[in-house]
Amino acid sequence: MSSADELIIKVDEDNLERIGEGSRRCCFRVPGQPGCVKFYRTPSEYTKKTKPSVRFSIFCSRFCLWFNVNYHETLYHGHLRKRLPPDLFEVFPEEMRMVFSRKRGWGVVESYIQNADGTAIRRLISEIGRAKSLTLRRRLYLAAADLFSRLAEHAVCFYDPPNLMVQWTGPEEFRLRIVDFEPYGRALVPGLSFSKLYVRLKVRRRCSRYLKRLREIFFKEGEV
Ligand SMILES: Nc1ncnc2c1ncn2[C@@H]1O[C@H](COP(=O)(O)OP(=O)(O)O)[C@@H](O)[C@H]1O
Ligand SMILES: [Mg+2]
Repeated sequence: MSSADELIIKVDEDNLERIGEGSRRCCFRVPGQPGCVKFYRTPSEYTKKTKPSVRFSIFCSRFCLWFNVNYHETLYHGHLRKRLPPDLFEVFPEEMRMVFSRKRGWGVVESYIQNADGTAIRRLISEIGRAKSLTLRRRLYLAAADLFSRLAEHAVCFYDPPNLMVQWTGPEEFRLRIVDFEPYGRALVPGLSFSKLYVRLKVRRRCSRYLKRLREIFFKEGEV
């Protein structure tokens, strides 16, 4: 998809096909449209895992832009487009645009990312676990380590490294993708995320911890 105009223009709330779920948001495709759309869960989509604190945060954020993560991500995506090298910006969806639903509140329409064979993208940790060879496992790990260090260098607010996804573009060929980045974390006031030094340190710390975890699970001493 190359331009925002090719994304979903109109969201038909009664015709959404759920294709992904996070703790707060659900991602849907609209049949016949190229993009996908994300909204906070509605009360009927809450599960046992939707804790009272999450319900409260959804209640506060659905209609209020200040707290709404779809709004923060869309704005931040626009900033990143202007300041990141294109090959780094490519990890994010090509396009993101706000959309409003009377029932679901503020959502985001964005490029739908799928594997070359049409299957859904999965997290890095799950793809490293499924990789059949040590070579592929190493390639995935090293690509992630390299991406994390570039994100830190460019002070990109990406605080939740387990959200890194793998998109298979061919057999054993992949791109790393980020579809969930909550630039200001879950803090109600963005505060320190405006300090590049703070962002770099926080991203480095979180990503190093995550890489260490991956090494402990998937690699023997000296393999990476
Ligand atoms: N642009 C996208 N393309 C393909 N799948 C997506 C996209 N955005 C989200 N998803 C799927 O929907 C799931 C939930 O979206 P996510 O943004 O992670 O919600 P949450 O913020 O609640 O964690 C993701 O884990 C992913 O599987
Ligand atoms: Mg998520």
